[in-house]
Amino acid sequence: MAGMRRVLKLPDARELSFAAAGEFTRAVGAVKKGKIHIALSGGNTPKAFHKVIVDKLASRIPWDRVHVYWGDERCVPPDHPDSNYKMAMDTLLSHVPVPSENIHRIMAEQEGAAAQYESLLRREMGDSPRFDWIFLGLGPDGHTASLFPGTPAVQEGGLVCDGYMAAKQSRRITFTLPLINAAAKVAFVVSGPEKADMVRTVLEDPPSPSHPASLVSPAQGELLWLLDRDAASRLKA
Ligand code: 6PG
Repeated sequence: MAGMRRVLKLPDARELSFAAAGEFTRAVGAVKKGKIHIALSGGNTPKAFHKVIVDKLASRIPWDRVHVYWGDERCVPPDHPDSNYKMAMDTLLSHVPVPSENIHRIMAEQEGAAAQYESLLRREMGDSPRFDWIFLGLGPDGHTASLFPGTPAVQEGGLVCDGYMAAKQSRRITFTLPLINAAAKVAFVVSGPEKADMVRTVLEDPPSPSHPASLVSPAQGELLWLLDRDAASRLKA
């Protein structure tokens, strides 16, 4: 049984970034006690809503209770320009008072990084980790996190695994679909006309491993799609 799905269409990328930051802040604020476990996404789209969080909403977030993880990471050092950790530190985490011990980087440059991160998740969250919030992006090929079409990661049953960009075979570490689908809230944030065809496919065609993002469906959680007008431009509904 799938949980609830909401699709919000915003007029432009700026309004999208405000909506994403606002939904995140409200969701985090609703976790009234204990640790708040969130997972960030990589790529370029998050930079805009990270800035809104820093500039407008940071004071509303109980950073001392927030624990930060990544839904995927490239197998590069943490100071590499391709690092999702570096992007998040540069655009968000260095600018808010989240305790450094609450920042849980994927040591993707090391051998055994997937198993190490899976152990960390179990240590921090117990044997059935349930994130309070997971940000996700969407690639034009239908990938999300580092779950790329045609790769074994899409079928993995654990929590964290090796992902590969089938075309380029660049190593990545990624959350699996079972981990993503165990979350309380999962939010796709998608901007730009180059994503429009895949947004329509994922939202309006039957789910398929050929576009892994379509397999994200939190069984006991909420799925939120935040789209700007360009990304939503091919939707029929
Ligand atoms: C990554 C991301 C990836 C990203 C999409 C969209 O490590 O690259 O996790 O899944 O979210 O590729 O990327 P853009 O936001 O740059 O379009």
